[in-house]
Amino acid sequence: MGQHRKVRKAVFPVAGLGTRFLPATKAVPKEMLTVVDKPVIQYVVDEALEAGIEHLVFVTGRGKGVIEDYFDIQYELEQTLKERNKKAELTLLSGILPKAGMASFTRQQEPLGLGHAVWCARDIVGDEPFALLLPDMIMRGEKGCMKGMIELYDQSGGNVIAVEECHPDQAHKYGIVGVGDAIGSGFRITGMVEKPAKGTAPSNFFINGRYILQPEIFSILETQERGAGNEIQLTDGMLKLAASQDFAGYHFKGETFDCGAKDGFILANVAFALERADIRPTVEEPLKQLLAALKG
Ligand code: UTP
Repeated sequence: MGQHRKVRKAVFPVAGLGTRFLPATKAVPKEMLTVVDKPVIQYVVDEALEAGIEHLVFVTGRGKGVIEDYFDIQYELEQTLKERNKKAELTLLSGILPKAGMASFTRQQEPLGLGHAVWCARDIVGDEPFALLLPDMIMRGEKGCMKGMIELYDQSGGNVIAVEECHPDQAHKYGIVGVGDAIGSGFRITGMVEKPAKGTAPSNFFINGRYILQPEIFSILETQERGAGNEIQLTDGMLKLAASQDFAGYHFKGETFDCGAKDGFILANVAFALERADIRPTVEEPLKQLLAALKG
């Protein structure tokens, strides 16, 4: 155990158009929408750092420059805070800042699909396994999803995909995996299918937006043709890779919120607000009243 090459880098593809969240995403990237008081991307970066990731790779696009600014020093703001002796706020800001040289940004000039966005990171990632975190999916659980995946990877090596259980009626909305024998604390993935027709899903385990992939995926994505939605699909590339490499499933025991969709984003705000000791007392009762008024 532990003989597998270390996962040091994490890729965050933030170049999508976010059309499900228009008009908000016309001028603000969906990754910068706030859940309680932090942009969505901050939750995802924190999950990667908690898992021991050492280098952050952002695949950005037009109009996403604000993400780069968010992870940089805001000199004027910090100067003003210093002058006003706002120590707590300064500490908060310095906590967000990645160490110098720890973050890389590259551009996907055209949003040709998730598979293409991942391929854009090939030179920065190089020839080593990497984590991939979809930056609009945020998670709540006892243990960070990527942390648990790296623990499984230390046993299994190969590629790892995180999955979560959904109601069988909902399986047609997701990417679903087939479940095989145990590998370490996870299981062998025997197949993957995007949005299976109702009643045909091989299991209720859906892919929740977290992956550990071997670098061989890049040469596959290089020649990957457009698939569903006329986009270069990561799943198509992973299916090809699965012909020569193992994929293990990591069963994440928690809850994922798809913040790229309005309902998921609203639920994330409610769920994370209710977890906060400073916010819950003033939110819980009015929320209950709102729900009661709806019933009445
Ligand atoms: P999504 O399909 O959820 O994102 O892709 P989208 O295309 O921005 O959203 P909608 O469907 O139009 O609302 C999953 C992730 O892959 C990134 C997105 O930014 C998102 O985080 N992505 C997608 C890219 O970086 N490039 C692409 O070409 C497509």
